[in-house]
Amino acid sequence: MIHISRSVVGAAELEAMGRVMRQDGYLGMGQEVRAFEAELKAYLGGQEDRTVICLNSGTAALHLAVQALTSPGDEVLVQSLTFIASFQAISAAGAVPVACEVYPDTVTLDLEDAARRITLRTKAVMPVHYASNPGDLEAIYGFAERHGLRVIEDAAHAFGCTYKGRKIGSFGDLACFSFDGLKNITSGEGGAVVTADPGVIQAVQDARLLGVQRDTEKRYQGARSWEFDVQHQGYRYHLSNLFAAVGRVQLGRFEGEFKPRRVELAQKYRTAFADTSDLLLFHGDPGPIVPHIFTVRVLNGKRDGLRQFLRQREIETGIHYKPNHLLSFYGGGKESLPVTEKLYEELLTLPLHPGLKDEEVDATIAAVREFLSDASNC
Ligand SMILES: Cc1ncc(COP(=O)(O)O)c(C=O)c1O
Repeated sequence: MIHISRSVVGAAELEAMGRVMRQDGYLGMGQEVRAFEAELKAYLGGQEDRTVICLNSGTAALHLAVQALTSPGDEVLVQSLTFIASFQAISAAGAVPVACEVYPDTVTLDLEDAARRITLRTKAVMPVHYASNPGDLEAIYGFAERHGLRVIEDAAHAFGCTYKGRKIGSFGDLACFSFDGLKNITSGEGGAVVTADPGVIQAVQDARLLGVQRDTEKRYQGARSWEFDVQHQGYRYHLSNLFAAVGRVQLGRFEGEFKPRRVELAQKYRTAFADTSDLLLFHGDPGPIVPHIFTVRVLNGKRDGLRQFLRQREIETGIHYKPNHLLSFYGGGKESLPVTEKLYEELLTLPLHPGLKDEEVDATIAAVREFLSDASNC
């Protein structure tokens, strides 16, 4: 089976986990998490005012970001075409995810559509960097400024990507990353909020430790608070030293190993499919975009047939994603989002991960071409 994705970890990650087990004597949140946060901050440019706060998932990062910026009942504009985590993070905070359309050539938030959905309760906008493409972030920030909204970038797919030469997370309001097993770097499970807003930094740091006020510094030093106050709802969302150790190794492998391979594979697909009929590539260049997934549009009703054909060839594919407004919990399709629903019928994700072999990507390209060039598949 050619897998759509997988974790690429090895001896160095194992060694790092062993080191923490042997040396630290403490597997919760401590020195190792602090070191991972500092290294992430340095990687993102090291600006003094920006802080990286690690959590135990990308969903937790989004949840605490939303909680820090909204009150129950506030609305957050978000594209329907995203992973369920974006929506769940918003509703977990008691806010309301307002499902918006996307631009079909990038699957990023359609700002004209989003503008029509603004109400007095709208507090934030959550652009999702779909398939690692941040889209037109300048336009997003202009939109937010015009309407007095905060921006929570769902950058789960976009670790290591750049926008106009600047790393995602190195500028802007809030960016949330995921380090789950399949992302551009993994800590096993994990995530991070990056921001320069002191109020948000404090709120997220406290909320990850059950709301215990100002416990982060003590934890870094291997201690904890015994006398403390709690003023807000918190969660057990901190990252463990064990996972941070894995994340540190992965961060060290990213620029030299993972990034070039992901970019190379995406370029290979793009070159191979440039003129393939019935198949449309999204806008956005690999390089600035370090693709977490490689998704295409399969036109003329051929997506499901192609998917089945690839399955027979033992090539795994995916559909990123079922639109959230179609899920019972978020309206069950009462409202229609035509662009999103059309895309949902066409999206197909092909295998891409740094461990994918050349012969596997070649076999995938050949199989896609074979199916689409066969007139009997019309
Ligand atoms: C767009 C998007 N947002 C959020 C998340 C949540 O990240 P995590 O799996 O680390 O909770 C993911 C994970 O796949 C994602 O794809």
